[in-house]
Amino acid sequence: MSKLALRHLSCRFGSVTAVDDISLELASGEFVSLLGPSGCGKTTTLRLIAGFLPPSGGTVEMDGDPISSPASALPPEKRNMSMIFQSYAIWPNMTVAQNVAFGLEVRRLARAEIRARVGHILDVVRLAPFRDRYPAELSGGQQQRVALARAIVVQPAVLLLDEPLSNLDANLREEMRYEIRRLHDEFHITTVYVTHDQAEAMVTSDRIAVMNQGRIEQVDEPRALYARPRTRFVAGFIGRTNFLDGEVHGAEVVFDHFAIALARFDESPALRGKVAFSLRPQSIHLHRQPPAASERTCVIPGRVVQRAYLGEHWDYAVRPKDGELQLRVTARPHEVFEVNEHVWLEVDPGQMALLGSSIGT
Ligand SMILES: Nc1ncnc2c1ncn2[C@@H]1O[C@H](COP(=O)(O)OP(=O)(O)O)[C@@H](O)[C@H]1O
Ligand SMILES: [Mg+2]
Repeated sequence: MSKLALRHLSCRFGSVTAVDDISLELASGEFVSLLGPSGCGKTTTLRLIAGFLPPSGGTVEMDGDPISSPASALPPEKRNMSMIFQSYAIWPNMTVAQNVAFGLEVRRLARAEIRARVGHILDVVRLAPFRDRYPAELSGGQQQRVALARAIVVQPAVLLLDEPLSNLDANLREEMRYEIRRLHDEFHITTVYVTHDQAEAMVTSDRIAVMNQGRIEQVDEPRALYARPRTRFVAGFIGRTNFLDGEVHGAEVVFDHFAIALARFDESPALRGKVAFSLRPQSIHLHRQPPAASERTCVIPGRVVQRAYLGEHWDYAVRPKDGELQLRVTARPHEVFEVNEHVWLEVDPGQMALLGSSIGT
């Protein structure tokens, strides 16, 4: 049985449908991100899970029991969930230890138990030396750790985080991603993490649900999401990519000024009419001489039209033959090509992800 389940969940504000028929199940101890651009409905989904908002349609279930439906909703304080907001609002007039102990005192735990739990969590989040400081005496990252400790110490059934790192500067944000994952590996609390930052989602999550305009477009493990995006939106939102629009003609898929044999595609029996693929820039290889024929790959002549050296890699724009299409290609620092140089592009159709909207059209 899933720990937390959203079933056909919707939420409307007047004429705006903020959450539009989403379904998602989390296994116990799973960490799932809701990833998408601003306004796509992430916070609203989290508030529906927490019980701060009633759904317009659908249900939220915990351990198989409905806790939210249009007819009735369990109040937030009875859900055994902890939520951390973007402005993490720790109490300025309480010390670190008092902030962390507060939720346990509210629950009337024994004094010794409170002391033990607070001590343990402060060790885990590396705040033990700061236990008697006030929030104003802490850095942004330390304050964020207090908020995390406070949310985790009550051992909630579900942890909800809404863009918890967005107030931190870039370096700290990167460090805290790993910190959040480390805490998860220690406590295994079922977690829903909201972010618009794909790297944050990829570092922290077991699975990522990509949201667009109130809907979930795809849910997958980070690697699958990157390698096999199923829609144009997902392919473009997770990392950079090339979109290849083609059309099936006889035994070939014809693109702009080049064609690839239909049989080379895994999905060849399903391909007909107009088709679209996503091809990552690092999945294309550049050669100065035509590479030897291979079973797997296709070779397309082209010309370099633009290049940029970014230290860790080269960023090339290459035009296959004389077409309009420009392909972005990422190459290693020693793979140096000049602008206007004639090159051969080596493409593996097995790495071209068929975009869903093109199936059956
Ligand atoms: N209380 C509200 N009243 C009216 N519209 C709202 C309310 N909350 C959110 N919305 C709208 O719902 C949509 C989704 O918002 P939100 O869930 O906050 O998105 P995100 O967190 O992904 O940025 C937006 O169009 C937003 O303007
Ligand atoms: Mg939001």
